[in-house]
Amino acid sequence: LFRSDIPKGLRRLPGPKPLPIIGNVLEVAGNPHLSLTAMSERYGPVYQIHIGMRPVVVLSGIDTVRQALIKQGEEFAGRPHLYSFQYINNGKSLSFSSDKAGVWRARRKLAMNALRSFSSLEGTEAGYSCVLEEHICKEGEYLVQQLSTVMKASGSFDPFRHIVVSVANVICGMCFGRRYSHDDEELLSLVNMSDEFGQVVGSGNPADFIPFLRFLPGRTSMKTFIDINARFTSFVQKIVREHYSSYDKNNIRDITDSLIDHCEDRQLDENSNVQISDEKIVGIVNDLFGAGFDTISTALSWAVVYLVAYPEIQEKLHQEMNNSVGMEHTPRLSDKPSLPLLEAFILELFRHSSFLPFTIPHCTTKDTALNGYFIPKDTCVFINQWQVNHDRALWKSPSSFSPERFLNADGTTVNKMEAEKVMIFGMGKRRCIGEAIGRTEIFLFLAILVQKLRFHELPGHPLDMTPEYGLTMKNKRCQLCASLWEQD
Ligand code: HEM
Repeated sequence: LFRSDIPKGLRRLPGPKPLPIIGNVLEVAGNPHLSLTAMSERYGPVYQIHIGMRPVVVLSGIDTVRQALIKQGEEFAGRPHLYSFQYINNGKSLSFSSDKAGVWRARRKLAMNALRSFSSLEGTEAGYSCVLEEHICKEGEYLVQQLSTVMKASGSFDPFRHIVVSVANVICGMCFGRRYSHDDEELLSLVNMSDEFGQVVGSGNPADFIPFLRFLPGRTSMKTFIDINARFTSFVQKIVREHYSSYDKNNIRDITDSLIDHCEDRQLDENSNVQISDEKIVGIVNDLFGAGFDTISTALSWAVVYLVAYPEIQEKLHQEMNNSVGMEHTPRLSDKPSLPLLEAFILELFRHSSFLPFTIPHCTTKDTALNGYFIPKDTCVFINQWQVNHDRALWKSPSSFSPERFLNADGTTVNKMEAEKVMIFGMGKRRCIGEAIGRTEIFLFLAILVQKLRFHELPGHPLDMTPEYGLTMKNKRCQLCASLWEQD
């Protein structure tokens, strides 16, 4: 309220006038990625809105976002205290909590090391470059069988419902050393709630900022959200307890074991300068599991929907696969250089859907300035990835879906400069730590699906491509059909 003390030489942030108590909620609500993009055209790449009484700075434009997250990375690397965040992983989430910088940095490093070592392990069978490739190929082949079985039995399927189990199995393999059946009720009830989770933690949820809204039974009430998080945490805690009871220092089976092992070692290490509780160390697995299935299954579910919406592109992708890899062996990571159209399709899927429209909200760690505007310490900051991916200054016809925009003139290689303009994993200090795994999974799963199956609409059920807003924007639940290419 007392933001009149702007240091000399800096300007006050522009932005729409807020209403008393609710601020700009009415202008932002519904589809914040669209309303906040429209506002950036009026107020520029740095402006301020109010959600309730709280000021929020919104950043758009690739140069401004780079300046904040890379050049001034430390100043924009915090997470705000938002009401919903305290319920994620009991308030101890690596991704959402406002841990002090030293603690967050140490936990992030641990998580990155664990992911790196457990994805690059040698596969259990010959012919795979690493265990991650082995997990994905096996789950991908199983997914094709599963979709064919469901098609025979029911005549159609909901893509998200099946993809999410296959994707969850890959991260479960790395985190917990186990996989689940596609009918496992406990897993299904958890992974099918991720849309409700995303709706509450998506940037701009008024209930995070305005206390009385927390008690309203909205699209997803705060009570439902708290319940989902409690169930998710207890699911992981049960597995962690089992790991503690069978833990053997000489046989580290998965990421959970390696985090337990780290706690044991650290107790012996008197020189360690950042003190982190065992709960916060082992709890990292909760973040990895949650982030590891929701993002990727959302991406793949959209991919199938786009294949259906653009049958001529689907046909070309299958032809590329047929000509370069053939129909005999399951595609591998090493096939990537010979599948440029598939790579371009994935980039265009990221850009066009921008299914993660904003990063997780950031927060300033000290008083700072951006583009000449003063931004005080502890200000909540939204980063509009959707705007970057649809910016007319950056993209020709941004609303058309055209994978070819990422191909070089000869059509046989991907234009790396264009590819780097797509923003979906954030950037800078908080950049996603699962990016390499995410890109690998999306490429391999999709390669397997495109090789084997042709997807199409269920007659009488036209596709609705309108996304449902949230941290990850989902496609509307739908029924689709698939047939084996060989049978066509
Ligand atoms: C953070 C995107 C997959 C783990 C993030 C952020 C984005 C993102 C936008 C927030 C960046 C920010 O706040 O500035 C994606 C996308 C994925 C994906 C698009 C897949 C297509 C994964 C996977 C994992 C993972 C597979 C782990 C197995 C994390 C973690 C963070 C994070 C732990 C929090 C980092 C921090 O706060 O320091 N991701 N992600 N993500 N992601 Fe991912």
